Amino acid sequence: MSKVLVLNGPNLSRLGSREPEIYGTTDWAGLVAAVTERAAKLGLDVDVRQTDSEAELIGWLHESVDAQADVILNPAAFTHYSYAVRDAAAMVTKGGKRLIEVHLSNPHTREEFRHNSVISGVATGVIAGFGIGSYLLALDQLCQ
Ligand code: DQA
Repeated sequence: MSKVLVLNGPNLSRLGSREPEIYGTTDWAGLVAAVTERAAKLGLDVDVRQTDSEAELIGWLHESVDAQADVILNPAAFTHYSYAVRDAAAMVTKGGKRLIEVHLSNPHTREEFRHNSVISGVATGVIAGFGIGSYLLALDQLCQ
């Protein structure tokens, strides 16, 4: 079974109550359940994690490199400014594995500071704006 780490950055544990008009009403447990269910149908072995810590997220990216696992990454606010997360993400793709950047919302329709992603330049691809569907589309793509 192919291993996929689904990594999520700051504030995503607050899904459901955090700006539901932007991020939807499904809570974190609902996201984990939807991703786990789709992965099981596709025959993927997923590990879904969330952290508010940049250091922990970087450690998980290192772990994915060592485990030779593909990654689905929602870097949340780190998307817009963390060169450290970008450098760790680059190790995944330069190591020959796929890293799909996902966003629940479409950051390009929002505040200007969200229009730039420092992660996209090292990602295999980007899926944004489909709510939890962004994660499900990324899982589908990893099976192509
Ligand atoms: C987000 C978009 C980011 O701009 C924001 O900081 C988030 C969530 C999204 O999934 O739409 O926390 O990554």
